[in-house]
Amino acid sequence: MKFLVTGGAGFIGKWLLEKLPTNAEVVVLDSLDQQVHRKLHDFSPEVKERATCIQADVQNIEDYQSEIEGTDVIIHLASQTGTGQSMYEISRYVQENVNGTAKLLELVSKLNSKPRRIILSSSRAVYGDGAYTDGKEIYYPKGRRLEDLQQGIWEVHNDRGRPLTFLPMQESHLTQPTSVYGLTKLWQEQLMQNYCESQGIDLVTLRFQNVYGPKQELGNPYTGIIGIFTNAIAQGKRLELFEDGQVTRDFVFVGDVAEAVVRCALHPASLSSIINVGMGQAVTLIDVVEAIAALLHKPADYTVSGRFRVGDIRHAVADMSHYETLLGSWFPISLKAGLSQYLEWYLEQEPLSHAVLQASLREMERSGLLLSKHG
Ligand SMILES: NC(=O)c1ccc[n+]([C@@H]2O[C@H](COP(=O)([O-])OP(=O)(O)OC[C@H]3O[C@@H](n4cnc5c(N)ncnc54)[C@H](O)[C@@H]3O)[C@@H](O)[C@H]2O)c1
Repeated sequence: MKFLVTGGAGFIGKWLLEKLPTNAEVVVLDSLDQQVHRKLHDFSPEVKERATCIQADVQNIEDYQSEIEGTDVIIHLASQTGTGQSMYEISRYVQENVNGTAKLLELVSKLNSKPRRIILSSSRAVYGDGAYTDGKEIYYPKGRRLEDLQQGIWEVHNDRGRPLTFLPMQESHLTQPTSVYGLTKLWQEQLMQNYCESQGIDLVTLRFQNVYGPKQELGNPYTGIIGIFTNAIAQGKRLELFEDGQVTRDFVFVGDVAEAVVRCALHPASLSSIINVGMGQAVTLIDVVEAIAALLHKPADYTVSGRFRVGDIRHAVADMSHYETLLGSWFPISLKAGLSQYLEWYLEQEPLSHAVLQASLREMERSGLLLSKHG
């Protein structure tokens, strides 16, 4: 089998390369984006050993078209991934994520033999605020109101001011992204769906939750909340938690995500489906900070600042039942076990300087996207 992995030099890509069958031919296409790959000007030895590597932007199809004829499965990971950053570097996110996907499809349309399957790495960001219930009906709030956030009303309410209960994200739920990043992931999904349906290509769209684990690039201050928390705790810096610290996320270990991608890639029958990939458990950010601090034997030094990021969502957790129906049992590793593996690796890395992280927050402040509650 022959695989093309775009963005294959990135965090999830590196894990994926290890798990693809050893007898498969693999081509990695990656621009080695300097925001992600601090100081890296060539593919790392582990990627070079496993794959034919092409350094190119996915938009520049002439740079790699000669290498991908005969590909059975395309795994499209290449993307810009900073949700907050996408709110002010809007055209760059649209170019690289949307035009990048469009160009990749144009290239596929020129191939003599089309791939059997395409796997797209989408995101839980496409759900936006997700679905809520009052016990009777389902509501799809379209973003939280600025006036509410400025008053410190963090949870989602119905029109009569009653708090609603968040529902685990199901693939059938409405998609209404609250960030430019989320929009670009949804456009990627729709472009792929439209094209693959017309060509009979088996499209598997995987909506990842928050992925963490060893090999996550620490040089990128715009993504990877666990890396950001770990940097601060390990360096003895006080952490700022936005809102009231009770924001929840579904943290899924990168090894489990790579396993899910490989299962889809090798699945014998057609899947043609959108599938969530998360641990399936919601964890508050305070709990994550405390878990990291306990494992590092450091104090959990944080302030709950009441500041908030415009477009941020309050809760996210995947419903994994569709995955289990299609692909069998899902036994992700626990957060504690995953964090232990992550921290063991982290302690051998050069940490991101606190100043770089602070600079990324100042960029958001300047753009009016990091605000404080009044009073
Ligand atoms: N990590 C997460 O928590 C998470 C969550 C949801 C979805 N995803 C999706 O999973 C995919 C992989 O994410 P990751 O965490 O490995 O990110 P990453 O930033 O570590 O890897 C992305 C790779 O793509 C490359 N790249 C970026 N733009 C490119 C372009 N225009 N052309 C060619 N290469 C380009 C980068 O150099 C990098 O190596 C992305 O599509 C992302 O949207 C990730």
